[in-house]
Amino acid sequence: MRPLARRRIILAAFGGGVVLCAGGVAFAQPQAAGVVAYETQGDSAPAPLAGLKGDAARGRAIVVDRQKGLCLLCHSGPFPEQRFQGDIAPSLEGAGARWSEGQLRLRMIDATRLNPATSMPSYHRTEGLARVAPAFRDKPILDAQEIEDVVAFLTTLREPTAAQEKP
Ligand code: HEC
Repeated sequence: MRPLARRRIILAAFGGGVVLCAGGVAFAQPQAAGVVAYETQGDSAPAPLAGLKGDAARGRAIVVDRQKGLCLLCHSGPFPEQRFQGDIAPSLEGAGARWSEGQLRLRMIDATRLNPATSMPSYHRTEGLARVAPAFRDKPILDAQEIEDVVAFLTTLREPTAAQEKP
């Protein structure tokens, strides 16, 4: 449970940064509360959100979390300990070999920028969404640090066949 507690503290510190920003200190320029601005190059968002460094172990935890990332509702992947995995989206196996870090980042931030009809949630967008409960308005599903953590994890998935090995 230690790493989790530490993460809370880091997130709290980051939130403090955003508050400072509202007070006029030049910093990450959130477009809306909690959403960090980013630039794209083609189908890629090459720069880490807010210059943050991702942690692959935390990213994996978010991906398998049934409340947080919910990725396994639709995707499967190299997660032998997870009994129920989705099959309506491509397996995450080998995603780090198929896509660059920047391509993975843009897919995580807002997959509708690549396929407007996709069922994949826009994990770091608050503009233009329909039917959002008031408590979640202006809050992205994953904050900048969580996006970077998930991207760091996805870049490690370089083996297309890893998940085929049954436990
Ligand atoms: C409601 C379903 C759904 C959820 C939840 C979802 N995705 Fe997706 N995802 C998709 C679909 C469908 C695609 C295929 C691309 C498209 O629709 O254009 C996709 C594509 C991707 C791709 C590109 C795959 C490839 O190799 O072509 C990655 C990487 C990805 N998702 C990661 C994630 C991660 C990580 C999460 C959780 C944080 C997640 N997805 C949650 C539906 C989902």
